[in-house]
Amino acid sequence: MITIKDKQFEIFISHQQIADKVAALATRLNADYQDKNPVLIVILNGAFIFAADLVRQLTFNHEIQFAKFSSYQGMETTGEVKELIGLSIDLKDRDVIIVEDIVDTGITMGEVLPTLQAKGAKTVEIAVLLMKPGKLRVPLSVKYCAMEIPNEFIVGYGLDYDGLGRNYKDIYVVKSEE
Ligand code: IMP
Ligand code: MG
Repeated sequence: MITIKDKQFEIFISHQQIADKVAALATRLNADYQDKNPVLIVILNGAFIFAADLVRQLTFNHEIQFAKFSSYQGMETTGEVKELIGLSIDLKDRDVIIVEDIVDTGITMGEVLPTLQAKGAKTVEIAVLLMKPGKLRVPLSVKYCAMEIPNEFIVGYGLDYDGLGRNYKDIYVVKSEE
């Protein structure tokens, strides 16, 4: 068990389970992008560890870019997405893969996706480590998802609670308050 600020978390998904799922996702991407040269857009901050593990298993040529959007404060979405770091690369006619840590309400990806499509990308797909399908509030097509989880707040493997907990190798779930 770990404690971050006012919350206690217990282990939920082990590093080994995560590694297996990331490897399976890499296999799918390797099959689909074999002869392509896509741009991976890694969404900061949460996706940095997932992206580092994922790209080292990709066997096709690709470029990596980073972008930053923000909607979360504490454990709740603020419902509005801000572009904090923009992209410096020309996406015209490029295949784009968005690399994201988690899709919760889908609001972030629901904004990011059309923004990238509007830059003239040929294709835009989402590759996400985790999805909480029970919480999706906007229609969103996620082609590449490593794992689905129930509607719980989690930390670790890049994901944070108020900026903390990204360093844990495993994924932890918040303990319900008794
Ligand atoms: P959405 O816009 O509601 O889909 O939220 C997506 C963003 O919220 C993700 O990129 C995460 O940074 C953050 N987020 C959503 N759920 C969690 C969670 O359980 N733990 C930590 N961050 C989360
Ligand atoms: Mg995020």
